[in-house]
Amino acid sequence: MYSRIVGTGSYLPAKVVTNFDLAQRMDTSDAWIRERTGIERRHIIAEAESNVDMAEHAARAAIAAAGLQPSDIDLISYGTTTPDLVFPNCGCLLQARLGCRGAPAFSLEAACSGFIYALAMADKFVRAGESQRALVVGSEVLSRITDHSDRNTAILFGDGAGAVVLTPSEQPGIISTHLHADGSYQHLLYCTGGPARGPAPGNMASGDYVRMAGSEVFKLAVTLLGRIVDETLALNHLDRSAIDWLVPHQANLRIIQAVAKKLGLPMERVIVTVQEHGNTSTASVPLALDVGVRDGRIKRGDLLLLEALGGGVTWGSALLRY
Ligand code: COA
Repeated sequence: MYSRIVGTGSYLPAKVVTNFDLAQRMDTSDAWIRERTGIERRHIIAEAESNVDMAEHAARAAIAAAGLQPSDIDLISYGTTTPDLVFPNCGCLLQARLGCRGAPAFSLEAACSGFIYALAMADKFVRAGESQRALVVGSEVLSRITDHSDRNTAILFGDGAGAVVLTPSEQPGIISTHLHADGSYQHLLYCTGGPARGPAPGNMASGDYVRMAGSEVFKLAVTLLGRIVDETLALNHLDRSAIDWLVPHQANLRIIQAVAKKLGLPMERVIVTVQEHGNTSTASVPLALDVGVRDGRIKRGDLLLLEALGGGVTWGSALLRY
């Protein structure tokens, strides 16, 4: 028994902030940001909007694409690092809106790898026969934990949500998922506080922010994502030429290009949204997947490799036949 993606959906907030907008606020330029990251613009959540608001749009679109009703969902696996509340978890908040009462609903936190983690969890429930219609969500409001005066991070992040629905299938489907973490790298990319610790002394008064050692994270991402590509192919006895589409985490165009090169894939076979979305963390892989599916590039039967790396560090991949 496998699980298979039967619907995808996504949502981006209406407000767009371009590199030119940022250059008016801080010492940076469109040319620098595009050259170093590939990012041109990003969507930023409205003041009255929340993580779960975005997730609901993405989830309803994915459920409709699957030909199901929201009340059909029997499991919610929700990846996020920027929840509306500490609890109830975002999965429960979303479940109440969708009306699928009683379905287990949880959120898990693995920073930018959160969707791959959430997908792997849901896949295991479906394979075990414990879910027939699982909703997997990645939704993130990184703009609310970004220090908008720090040009090292403020240029990178955007907000958004993506979702998929999984159902059981005798044919793959999700072929394998691969998850890793190495907490010894926690100092390279982190948020300065949390509810158990409070804001760190000396931090900006209004709260906790993402801090990142950019070039170290960059090098680590290229190394670890390269390694997980090898691991995924080797475990499935596949040659890299078998992959039809790379659907990567959208952190930086140069990281994406390095992974594509490792796979021997031309960039035309990579779904790239980083220029439009920036880094939407947990949302970036399902957003890119939905873009590729809806514009008709990704077709039924194509072999997809999804991968991501995020704070922790955490990293992971999923090999699947769409
Ligand atoms: N605009 C203009 N200059 C900037 C800048 C900005 N927004 N941010 C940094 N700089 C400057 C730095 O101060 C530095 O100046 P200096 O040489 O005078 O000290 C110079 O640009 C180079 O900085 P560096 O950090 O070495 O640049 P980089 O090529 O590594 O690019 C990142 C920076 C953040 C774009 C890049 O490291 C990156 O993308 N890292 C990975 C980030 C990531 O993927 N994070 C999320 C993982 S989920």
